[in-house]
Amino acid sequence: MRIAVVGSGYVGLIAAVCFAELGHAVICVDNDTEKVAALQAGQVPIFEERLPELLARHRGEGLQFSTDLHLAARQSEVIFIAVGTPQAANGEADLSYVEACAREITAELDEYKVVVEKSTVPVLTNQWIRRTLRFNGAIDENYDVVSNPEFLREGTAIEDFLYPDRIVVGADSERARAVLRRVYQPLIDGSYYSLPSCVPGPRDLTSGARYMETSARSAELIKHASNAFLALKISFINAVSNICELVGTDVQEVSAGIGADFRIGSRFLNAGIGYGGSCFPKDVRAFYKIAESVGYDFDLLQAVEEINEAQKLSFLKKVRAALWTLKGKRIGVLGLAFKGGTDDIRESPAISIVQSLLAEGCIVSAYDPAAMEKARQTMADHENLRFACDEFDAARGAHALLVVTEWPQFAGLDLQRLRQTMLYPVMIDGRNLFDLNQMASAGFHYYSMGRPVTEPKLAPRMDMEYK
Ligand code: UDX
Repeated sequence: MRIAVVGSGYVGLIAAVCFAELGHAVICVDNDTEKVAALQAGQVPIFEERLPELLARHRGEGLQFSTDLHLAARQSEVIFIAVGTPQAANGEADLSYVEACAREITAELDEYKVVVEKSTVPVLTNQWIRRTLRFNGAIDENYDVVSNPEFLREGTAIEDFLYPDRIVVGADSERARAVLRRVYQPLIDGSYYSLPSCVPGPRDLTSGARYMETSARSAELIKHASNAFLALKISFINAVSNICELVGTDVQEVSAGIGADFRIGSRFLNAGIGYGGSCFPKDVRAFYKIAESVGYDFDLLQAVEEINEAQKLSFLKKVRAALWTLKGKRIGVLGLAFKGGTDDIRESPAISIVQSLLAEGCIVSAYDPAAMEKARQTMADHENLRFACDEFDAARGAHALLVVTEWPQFAGLDLQRLRQTMLYPVMIDGRNLFDLNQMASAGFHYYSMGRPVTEPKLAPRMDMEYK
């Protein structure tokens, strides 16, 4: 099938590459000429597992990049809109890019085409797109507007797209539903998973991925409600972690016990410094605003946000409790990305913590395996901030080492070596990466989230005693 994907951000680029992987002829359009030129030249703009491999496989073959939206729309039978929906000043999603895109493609709807919203949009956007197309002269018989939300996570985006928990297609006409079934056919019938070249995935889907057809409105709601529910799950366990601290027990034990109930499930029950990223904070706010606009006060979501903000403050309180005063203290920071496995620092709790420490007069030495470049661009030129070469460099001479992103490699660090590098044997772990006994045996004063503080089992070396 000939498919246009408008927008080469996270969702657009991954969708375009994966549709090409499914055998379609895809044109991915963006109005950022530099970005398109870079993609045409084979550069990979985001840090994402398997993306370089799939781009190399399809670029110039089944996948073209262009700045010409009209051409792309003219040549395609399905047009996926995957442009940004940033948060407006009032918390609502700014849909002006979606509207501009709908306006522009109208001229190309001279025969039947399906316009698909792939960006995360509020419920009823489908209706607005339809209205925009009509007001700009499109004939009703020549188009349908479908909602096909994307649930991919950064870091595992390709795998999530090709091995989805479910594919949701919200369409109000059978003609459009039939077109979308053709788009996803290799995943629906499982034929993709039998190809020798198929990207390996986390589970066997040879009998086909789960495919759900709903109304357009339901599909729009499914996307916002899913993200809001996951954010709620995280805030819930973070709230429980505060109770665990107050009664002196371990949230990991509690979380394992809760998650063992299949109705609840163990995923997204890790306590920490709160969720970040380009989706959860924006989508929780947007969903609250959508509810408000249709007359429902979804104050549960306000609480989700408040708990999330409070976690960062609770972490800073731990740093203060561990170090007494902060001004002039040297702090090593492990992690800058909003989560492990990505270079994305949008709404990263790690960045906000570094900024608070700098504001308190700390001298920060930070390291992240992937997000250094992006962090440098945002926080360059602070006299008290240094970007370290690796974890041990970040820890060197530090009064405390902070873990603020859940990179798996941090959990495997040589703790003895780390401790010997530091000035004080103090670690404050916002992601619960380490075992309490392991830290005590390694000689650390170890603070984490929702778990008891542990003191070193070994006597600290004299030369490491508080200088
Ligand atoms: C999320 C959704 O998971 C995805 O379905 C949607 O399409 C986009 O938004 P993503 O933003 O890539 O994906 O990150 P995710 O892996 O969901 O993590 C979000 C945040 O929650 C991160 O800051 C992470 O550190 C935090 N988190 C996650 C926790 O604090 N605890 C957990 O148990 C899980």
